[in-house]
Formats: sequence, C-alpha cells, structure tokens
Amino acid sequence: MKHILHVVGARPNFMKLAPVYRALNGRARQTIVHTGQHYDAAMSTVFFEQLGIPAPDVNLQVGSGTHAAQTAHIMLAFEPQIVALKPDIVMVYGDVNSTMAAALVCSKLGVKIAHVEAGLRSRDRSMPEEINRMVTDTLADLLFTPSADGDANLIAEGVSPAKIHLVGNVMIDTLMRLLPLTDTEKARHSVGLNGHRFALVTLHRPGTVDDTATLVSVLDTLRQIGRNVPIVFPMHPRTRQRLTDAGYKVNGEFRLVEPLGYLEFLALQRDAAVVITDSGGIQEETTYLGVPCVTVRPNTERPVTVTIGTNVLVGHDMTRLCREVQRALSSDRKNGAIPPLWDGKASDRIADIIAEC
Ligand code: UD1
Repeated sequence: MKHILHVVGARPNFMKLAPVYRALNGRARQTIVHTGQHYDAAMSTVFFEQLGIPAPDVNLQVGSGTHAAQTAHIMLAFEPQIVALKPDIVMVYGDVNSTMAAALVCSKLGVKIAHVEAGLRSRDRSMPEEINRMVTDTLADLLFTPSADGDANLIAEGVSPAKIHLVGNVMIDTLMRLLPLTDTEKARHSVGLNGHRFALVTLHRPGTVDDTATLVSVLDTLRQIGRNVPIVFPMHPRTRQRLTDAGYKVNGEFRLVEPLGYLEFLALQRDAAVVITDSGGIQEETTYLGVPCVTVRPNTERPVTVTIGTNVLVGHDMTRLCREVQRALSSDRKNGAIPPLWDGKASDRIADIIAEC
C-alpha cells in the first residue's frame, strides 16, 4: 500500500482534503499534516468535525506571520516530518502558503508531489495565491485540474501533458455530499434572519480589505445595499482586524457574525438571494448552487464560474457592485449551468490515478 501524506493548513484546504481522504480510504496508508496556518476553532477544528476528517496526525503549529515568515516556518517544521515519515506521495491542495511551502520542501527531498486544484490562474501576481499556484504547479509531478482552462494554462506554461489530469472539482464532491445535511431554517435563525430574502457577504482578501480607502468604499456601498435587502456578513479575522484598525463603526446596517462552520455557511449560501464575495471557492459553490454571485475583484482564477456559471466580476467599481446586486435581486438575474465534471466524483478519479501511478 502506498503511503499518502496530505498537507493542509488553511480553511479552504479542508473541504478539498475531505473527499480525497475518503476516496483513498482502504486504498492507501494516509497521514494528515496540518501546518497550523489557521488555528482558531472557527477557522479549522469545526471543519474537521463537520467534514468527518480524522484529527491531523501532526500539527506543525506555525500560526500567522508575514508571507516569508509563515512560509519559512512551515518549511522548517515540515522537512523533518518528511524525512521521518517517508511518504510515497505528498498531496497539496489549492493555493495557500501551506501548499507552496510543502511543495518546496518535497521537491528538494525528491518526494513526489500531487497538486489538487492545479492550473488555475488569475494572471494577477499581486495576489499571493497566484504566486503559490505558479510555484506549486511548476514543482508538482501530478496535476489534478478542476476544469479545462487549468489544462490549457499548464500546457501553455510548458507542463508535460502526461502529468496533467482533468478530474473535476473536489470541493463540489464535498458540497454534494453534505448539502442534504444543511438546515436553512436553523442557519437563518442562528444569524438572526427572519423569513425575508437576504444577501450573504464574505470579504477577506488583502486586495479588498488591507487598503483602508478600498475597504471603506466597499463597506459604505454595502450599507447602501443593506437598505434594500438584509445583509449577513460572517467576518474573517483579518477583516475584523482591519475594521478595528480603521475605526469603522457598523450601526446595525448589516449583521456582522463570527466565521461560520461549513454546514451553516452552505445552508446560507443555498438560501441567499445573492452572494457578494472576494473568495475563490465561493464563486464555485454559488455556480453549483445556481445562486447569483457578485465578485468584488477585477479578475478570477476560476473563469468557468463567469463563462458558464452565475458569477459576475465587478472589480472595485462600486456603481457596478450596486447594479449587479440589483440585477441579481430582479427577474433579470444571471442564470448559469454546472461546469463539466463538477459531478461529485472528482476525488474518485484522483484515487484511481493515485492507485495506478
Ligand atoms: C489564507 C489564504 C487565502 C485563503 C484564506 C481563507 C494564503 C496566502 N492565503 O488567507 O488564500 O483564501 O486563508 O481563509 O495562504 N487569523 C486568525 N486566526 C486564524 C488564522 C488567521 O486570527 O486561525 C488572522 C491573523 O491575524 C492572521 C490573518 O488572519 O495574521 C491572516 O491569516 P493568514 O493565514 O496569513 O491568511 P488569510 O488571510 O487567512
């Protein structure tokens, strides 16, 4: 049996690990290493519980830091684990700092790397995730792509087609498995919503929240939108910190709540009239759910959510943000379809390929 070591660290990794771990169950010996990039219970533990992932075998407990410090701490703590555990393949997920740091360590030690969610490109190098995606894909031996644009990007960058496997979207595997367990009434109640339609907001990217002028203009626009439709805003710790730093006061124009668990957030997403976000994964989940998504970013590494799905990009143009939210709330809302291979079986395809290689 092969020894597969999975590396995860931040919230969006956990819903990608869960189905791959399940699909490999009984077919490989598996070890989970959590880097500790995310450490709050609401950003990490709750996902392990709700997604049914076993507790990590190893937690590197690196915590927060600058990009260089966080990446370096992960590499220093991870290297001896690889030397001691000697896995056959290390699986890394998505585009967070933990993904790139682990890939760098493995490549220098000659350990095979499999990248789940390979090939996505925003072509915006001001995003730390774009750098993480490019470095990880350069180093990976097996590249599992969620959509055909990923294959095209990798081939254009000179990656051998033999390494690339179009498998579909593992995050949708998790969504399809857990959607029947969501309780929309309970989720609405927990965030203080009554029967009305509502908008769901998440914002956490440095490009949106780190510059005070940009953050304030987005929040002022949300206040305006909040006069027409109730807004629920589960707030990432980074955004909460920036709000405090900016001294921005919200006087009940929207419901600011703590980060939610997977099931609670999914319940609200499926029920929302519109989702306003700068997240990557949420663009995909709303496309699957057929819920209008307005993305407060100038670009996306997930173009199928725009060309096939329900997503629209508005950048930091607040007039467009208002207009697209209005449109989403009207009968003229953008309809979409589900991209090919977002069918709940992506992780089975990955497990078959891993078993054969
Ligand atoms: C990271 C990922 C991002 C992903 C996001 C999802 C990178 C480069 N970025 O961004 O792609 O979309 O996770 O959440 O890897 N903090 C806490 N508690 C925690 C974790 C973080 O309070 O459990 C706070 C700390 O103040 C920290 C800040 O959030 O400095 C940022 O955390 P960090 O892991 O550096 O990046 P994220 O913004 O979470």
